[in-house]
Amino acid sequence: MQKGEFLYEGKAKKIFRTSEPGLLLVEYKDDATAFDGRKKGTIVGKGAVNNQVSAHLFQLLEQHGIPTHFVELRGDREMLVRRARVFALEVVVRNIAAGSLSKRLGLAEGLVLPAPVVETYYKNDALHDPLINDDHIRVLNLATPDEVQAMRTMALRVNEILVAYLSNRKIRLVDFKLEFGISQDEGRLLLVDEVSPDTCRLWDQDTGEKLDKDRFRRDLGGVEEAYAEILRRLIG
Ligand code: TMP
Ligand code: ASP
Repeated sequence: MQKGEFLYEGKAKKIFRTSEPGLLLVEYKDDATAFDGRKKGTIVGKGAVNNQVSAHLFQLLEQHGIPTHFVELRGDREMLVRRARVFALEVVVRNIAAGSLSKRLGLAEGLVLPAPVVETYYKNDALHDPLINDDHIRVLNLATPDEVQAMRTMALRVNEILVAYLSNRKIRLVDFKLEFGISQDEGRLLLVDEVSPDTCRLWDQDTGEKLDKDRFRRDLGGVEEAYAEILRRLIG
């Protein structure tokens, strides 16, 4: 398997073709952005942590029957993934009020929600990734109603699996963002992108200490240490 032509650079990852048309190589970067790219920085070692944490959690999810794009790790900061047609949607699942939910609904950060809340956002930089509902998704032709339902069901199942797994490691899963695609070869729904401290809110179960990208977003310090701690609790 040869690393091929550079295809695309996002805020946190670079994507390359490979000698296999159905596979892509993802390189995780140390670059960090927040607030729609208005805040920029570097989190030393983040690329390697997010690559390994994502690989670990994709494998865990696969073991529980969730299809993901993950194929295998390629060194410290690279992974091989299946090619997919990615929906222009972000699916957020929340167990505890925080971030934009707290702001939008006036809920105290830390309030345990009576049941998980699922939200969809339109991935569109020019529009600043707005929150959208099922009717908006239909108008914009972003996914069929069946696909939206399947993403919602899969996101809630991912939540159950991750909550149980992380709580055994003394981590509360506050909320997280998922992306989905349709695999090029089999046309089935796949979990894509990453599952990492960049895309999840993770609080220490005992102290409530934030062990995720909010340390960078909110200038809390100890950013690298938090990422390293998540890697340690998950992989040892
Ligand atoms: P929010 O409270 O800012 O809407 O974030 C909800 C979750 O989604 C949180 O775990 C962080 C994650 N997230 C991303 O992964 N990418 C993003 O661009 C945003 C805004 C949030
Ligand atoms: N990564 C996103 C951005 O740069 C937002 C975030 O994660 O807070 O806009």
